[in-house]
Amino acid sequence: MKILGTGLSGLVGSRVTALLSPDFTFENLSLETGVDITDLKSISVRFEQSDAPWVFHMAAYTDVQGAEKDHDTAWKVNVLATENIANNCRKLGKKLLYIDTDYAFDGKKEFYMEDDAPNPLGWYAKTKTEGAKRVLALGGLGLVIRISNPYRANPVGKKDFVHKMMERLESGQSVTGASDQLFVPTFIDDIAEALKVLIKTNASGIYHVVCAPALSPYEAGLVIADIFGYDKNLVQKGTFAQMFAGRAPIPQYAALKNDKITSLGIHMHSFAEGLEEVKKQEV
Ligand SMILES: NC(=O)c1ccc[n+]([C@@H]2O[C@H](COP(=O)([O-])OP(=O)(O)OC[C@H]3O[C@@H](n4cnc5c(N)ncnc54)[C@H](OP(=O)(O)O)[C@@H]3O)[C@@H](O)[C@H]2O)c1
Repeated sequence: MKILGTGLSGLVGSRVTALLSPDFTFENLSLETGVDITDLKSISVRFEQSDAPWVFHMAAYTDVQGAEKDHDTAWKVNVLATENIANNCRKLGKKLLYIDTDYAFDGKKEFYMEDDAPNPLGWYAKTKTEGAKRVLALGGLGLVIRISNPYRANPVGKKDFVHKMMERLESGQSVTGASDQLFVPTFIDDIAEALKVLIKTNASGIYHVVCAPALSPYEAGLVIADIFGYDKNLVQKGTFAQMFAGRAPIPQYAALKNDKITSLGIHMHSFAEGLEEVKKQEV
């Protein structure tokens, strides 16, 4: 089956397409392939020319700090371009996958299910939530997965948070993680597995594709040190208030639940299990 995609050369897209290429044929519309998704007309032409029944829309303005300063660009890429893609999918009857973020929530609840109301704090998150609304308005044609801090073996382009921490620990530098914060990092290989099943079942609506149990970034640092054999004394405890002072606001307790996706028989790796896979793949 053919899949028309955007952002397939990014951190998540490049791994998902590598893992799914035996099952699907991908066509990537991205800056790298000469297509700017904010060029609404040329996107519409490319959509009309394609007979792919599914669209993986993974391109986004992903600079969380930059979005606070450049509201217009983030809105144009994450909302207006997504709205145009959704309109094309509605017109042509294509199914649309969109990747949303755990930052959709305000982090004040103990945990979050798919039907909890979003209340994004920062501008990046607000634009991503608006984009998701356009996709969900497609009804049966719209599929939104929420992911958190995606990581993988051998990241390309930008480094994931795991490899940023590993780089510092490797060179004997300390890393600090908040111990009063919760997150649910996503092993990117699990996204590929989840998408295989979601496509097969013609799924629509929202799914949380995240790990369980939730952990703090401080705990994540300790797990990384443990699995990759770094000195655990280099992992320092910080507070959420300290670590995010003067930065784009993000949810403190982003403990999204993954029961809906695991009930489909998909194994979502815990953070430690995901890291063991990364270690095996990087040998
Ligand atoms: N990384 C995270 O922590 C995280 C967390 C939650 C959700 N997400 C979501 O997951 C998706 C994938 O994220 P990622 O981290 O893999 O992204 P990424 O590595 O930052 O890559 C972004 C992709 O978007 C493309 N792109 C950006 N602006 C474009 C434009 N105007 N026209 C065409 N293509 C454009 C880039 O194309 P070029 O490579 O050609 O420049 C790149 O392929 C995004 O929707 C993001 O919002 C990410």
